[in-house]
Amino acid sequence: MVRPLLNVEDYRVVARRRLPKVVFDYIDGGAETEQTMRANAASFGEVFLRPRGGTRPEQVRVGTTVLGEPVSMPVLVAPCGGARVVRPEGDLAGARAAAAAGTVFIQSGMSNHRLEEAAAATTGPLWFQLYHLGSRELTEAVVERARRAKVRALVVTVDCAAGSVRERDRRNGVPALLGTNRLKALPRTPQLLAHPRWLAARLTDALVPELGNVIGADGRARVLGRDFIPRTCSFADLDWVRAAWGGPMVVKGVLTPEDATQAVEAGASAVVVSNHGGRQLDGAEATLRALPDVVAAVGDRCEVLLDGGVRTSTDVLKAVALGARAVCIGRPWMYGLGAGGQAGVAGVLQLFQDGLQRNVALLGCSDVAEVGPQHVRAPAGWLATSPEKEASRG
Ligand SMILES: Cc1cc2nc3c(=O)[nH]c(=O)nc-3n(C[C@H](O)[C@H](O)[C@H](O)COP(=O)(O)O)c2cc1C
Repeated sequence: MVRPLLNVEDYRVVARRRLPKVVFDYIDGGAETEQTMRANAASFGEVFLRPRGGTRPEQVRVGTTVLGEPVSMPVLVAPCGGARVVRPEGDLAGARAAAAAGTVFIQSGMSNHRLEEAAAATTGPLWFQLYHLGSRELTEAVVERARRAKVRALVVTVDCAAGSVRERDRRNGVPALLGTNRLKALPRTPQLLAHPRWLAARLTDALVPELGNVIGADGRARVLGRDFIPRTCSFADLDWVRAAWGGPMVVKGVLTPEDATQAVEAGASAVVVSNHGGRQLDGAEATLRALPDVVAAVGDRCEVLLDGGVRTSTDVLKAVALGARAVCIGRPWMYGLGAGGQAGVAGVLQLFQDGLQRNVALLGCSDVAEVGPQHVRAPAGWLATSPEKEASRG
């Protein structure tokens, strides 16, 4: 009997079965003790919804806008590098599934497909995530490519001041597998041979695909972990990045009101409250916990998005109630990709769409725009008091 895929965890279980351990753990794992990764998901369990009864909406609207872009639901697809290692169609599958679901696909700067390929593969809204490529010239060159490809927003990730340690990757031999010394990689290959379908797909593509959007001064694409480690653009870089880009800029990886304010001052149209899904600084605060303070700090000066640990439509509603315009999902779409390619990503997005339709109604609303702080109970001390509120209280 085929097991129905009723939630994100079901897709995760199928992905774990279909992928070699090294690939599954690359998606599933976090930095060091994985405290932050666990805390992201656990923090949703600390917040409860407060439904109003006695309503029976004829129609429920869950669509919204993000940076003026109409989307079918407040759920965007987060930038995740390495999707092509999961399935050869990687980012293209993600972009197509997001477009079909009516939402934004954010292509990672560490993606393997060239951003022009993703732009050609989809009619849906495409955003591009930027890292510093080692020099201003190389970084500006990819920004220029994104502009020409009609990417609608640039997402600048600021939480990678250094490379992190993901212990699962080390244990599974990622450094050896990415390296050029095939002899060192040899002891690591049985885990790949145990997944012949995955391996056959990889061998017809490239065992270790290049980074299609990290082109060195020599014109050659780099390989993640072999000759390129992603690094953050600093706040000081944002001036020239914004000038080179000229469109909406989103700053991803904000956890404090101080950084949110600095991002706004640097010209961000939106910030993403994010700790990289617990893949960078282990011990960093859970994003849902950080959200209210950031929302209070930026007010209506920019939109606030959130990612990290969002697994259900009620998680989305909790984040929206606490002030997020929308959320982004990282691992969920990668599990969908591993479980079933484009159809798997589509299935995951459909879970969120169906769940939002149902749970917005159960919350007593007919439009997701009505969802606000009155619909949640968060632990004492979570709801921030803004300086403005304090001042008006005298
Ligand atoms: C496999 C994987 C690769 C990722 N690659 C990137 C990346 O290249 N750039 C980036 O800004 N964030 C990257 N992220 C972080 C996501 O954009 C997002 O912040 C995080 O996954 C959200 O948490 P969640 O996975 O619990 O939804 C990656 C996440 C995963 C799981």
